[in-house]
Amino acid sequence: MSNLPTPQELLYEGKAKRVYRTADPQVYLCQYKDDATAFNAQKRGSIAGKGEVNCTVSSRVFAYLARQGIRNHFLAQTGPTEMQVRALHILPLEVVVRNRAAGSLCKRLGLERGLPIEPPLVEFYYKNDALGDPLVTPDHIRLLQLATPEQVEVLGSLALAVNTHLRDFWRRCRLELVDFKLEFGLDEEGQIWLADEISPDTCRLWDLEGSEPRVLDKDLFRFDLGDPVAGYQEVLQRVLQAVGSQFLLS
Ligand code: TMP
Ligand code: ASP
Repeated sequence: MSNLPTPQELLYEGKAKRVYRTADPQVYLCQYKDDATAFNAQKRGSIAGKGEVNCTVSSRVFAYLARQGIRNHFLAQTGPTEMQVRALHILPLEVVVRNRAAGSLCKRLGLERGLPIEPPLVEFYYKNDALGDPLVTPDHIRLLQLATPEQVEVLGSLALAVNTHLRDFWRRCRLELVDFKLEFGLDEEGQIWLADEISPDTCRLWDLEGSEPRVLDKDLFRFDLGDPVAGYQEVLQRVLQAVGSQFLLS
């Protein structure tokens, strides 16, 4: 008999994941789906194998970040598309870090795609489907009581620390980390933990080895830039190869 916590009650179903309670109140089970959406679900589809890629990549990335001292919710990968995580109260914020201009930043500010950003930019978005996840300032966050000013400070510093480690991680996979989105949660004591997922759904990853950047992330799906199934599988293979190397085991 397995002593792994088994799914009990569906707690939440999002666009890309299901989260279940387990018999252990401290542990949730995340199940990753192949479903893909973009532009606040105006575009819908499916990427075969995405659930397995995102679950496996997130597991490896979270384990790596934990070794670098970044506290996060990951406990164990318990199946190809399943991971156990620490039960947290997720803050309704998306924290985006940008090392190059892309996506909504280019659209909003008219910057050239690929422009290096130094120092990296940190942005906050309010997780609210009805409002289309708007960009918010620390003052908006205080007004809406989404987090305290002290928590916003910590989230910004943590996001930049994660950026340093993630850039190293993806460089070992011969990929450049253009930008990414993080989510955080609070435990019963109010401590902040990194949560959610870190995958080609939530990171822009470019192979800069050719003359043109080669996109290997969800922009393949969002903007019909190429075959997302092949792109996701390539990211997985690169991560598994790199994890076997000395560096990522340390
Ligand atoms: P953006 O340029 O569209 O604002 O996206 C910035 C980063 O955040 C990019 O790496 C993709 C990621 N992201 C998500 O993970 N979820 C989302 O819903 C959106 C809009 C972006
Ligand atoms: N998760 C987003 C949505 O459909 C899309 C994205 O990742 O761009 O709302």
